[in-house]
Amino acid sequence: MKYQKLGNTDIEVSQVSFGAWGLGAGNVWSDMAVDVHMVENLLDDAYELGINYIDTAPVYGIGHSETVLGQALKGRRDRFILQTKCSLNWRNEGGEFEYVRDGYTVNRDHRAEAVRKDVEDSLERLGTDHIDALVVHRISRTVPVQETMAELNRLKEEGKIRAVLISNSQPADLDEYEQYGYVAGVQEKFSLLDDANRAYFDTCSKYNAVFQVYGSLEEGFLAGPGILDRQFGPDDVRAKAKYMQEPYRKALKDMYAGLEEMCQGHGCSFANLVQAWTLRQYDALNLLTGFRRRHTMEDTCRVFDIRLNDEEVSRISALAEAIKNIK
Ligand SMILES: NC(=O)c1ccc[n+]([C@@H]2O[C@H](COP(=O)([O-])OP(=O)(O)OC[C@H]3O[C@@H](n4cnc5c(N)ncnc54)[C@H](OP(=O)(O)O)[C@@H]3O)[C@@H](O)[C@H]2O)c1
Repeated sequence: MKYQKLGNTDIEVSQVSFGAWGLGAGNVWSDMAVDVHMVENLLDDAYELGINYIDTAPVYGIGHSETVLGQALKGRRDRFILQTKCSLNWRNEGGEFEYVRDGYTVNRDHRAEAVRKDVEDSLERLGTDHIDALVVHRISRTVPVQETMAELNRLKEEGKIRAVLISNSQPADLDEYEQYGYVAGVQEKFSLLDDANRAYFDTCSKYNAVFQVYGSLEEGFLAGPGILDRQFGPDDVRAKAKYMQEPYRKALKDMYAGLEEMCQGHGCSFANLVQAWTLRQYDALNLLTGFRRRHTMEDTCRVFDIRLNDEEVSRISALAEAIKNIK
């Protein structure tokens, strides 16, 4: 495992971080039931493999991901840097409508009192007295950044949170947030097939903010062709993916055919090639990956053994171009 500082903070995190969205299960990750015993085992696996950085959110499974993590973290809390989020809630206390999930209406609310309540609820569900890193899950369209950040700074002073990140944002949002306090990183979608957020790299460098990537495996669609022949429940996040539809499905199969020889050459998985490509894009990148099984976690940790040369990086990019160019 490799480690990096969370921006200018003294928090040291593993470069592969453990995404716990799937632990929310429900209708969204519907193919696997999640209980405390399973999460305890996953946490022990993560610890053994050197992964110390966990990312969850209140809305993952409408509290379920945080609740099972909280129960499983009993006796293990000090082994991990725990990150959760704020600004999306299902308390029906106003804010802007975001979506309906698992029968609950989720609203976006960045007001000071909402953000504080998010943190207090998360501390309760996670069974801890502090959150190491708090991510503002979405950018507000109505509440001034100054109000949200002032409350986050107060929560920091009170010792309830240690660092702030923002997510689903643009470089201009980071510039604005940084006016009101230090933001240690951004959590953004970035993958071989969706790399528009590389426009963020310079702004992250300017503030020494970590660029934490989610979706590098496109919810499993970049982890190998097997997923393309699976059936998912109607609300499962993967059933709605464009990669299950033509012409994307065939284009993805063609890309895997093109990558096969390189995989054999490196003796690695498709996921390793794709994530090794991802790590080559930016130095201070943190590879947030969703896990529910030991063997996928173990496989992802092998990414640091793969040394891609420049020609291979270009070849992988070129193979992805055919999919990116589909209109
Ligand atoms: N800020 C946001 O708005 C936002 C949005 C989306 C996600 N996130 C965060 O980012 C995390 C990661 O994103 P994601 O979960 O959407 O997708 P992802 O990391 O792109 O993909 C996760 C899927 O890939 C599989 N996988 C992982 N490593 C693998 C490997 N080496 N070989 C084969 N399959 C592998 C996992 O399998 P198993 O589950 O079977 O282990 C899981 O099904 C989330 O858990 C969440 O914490 C944040």
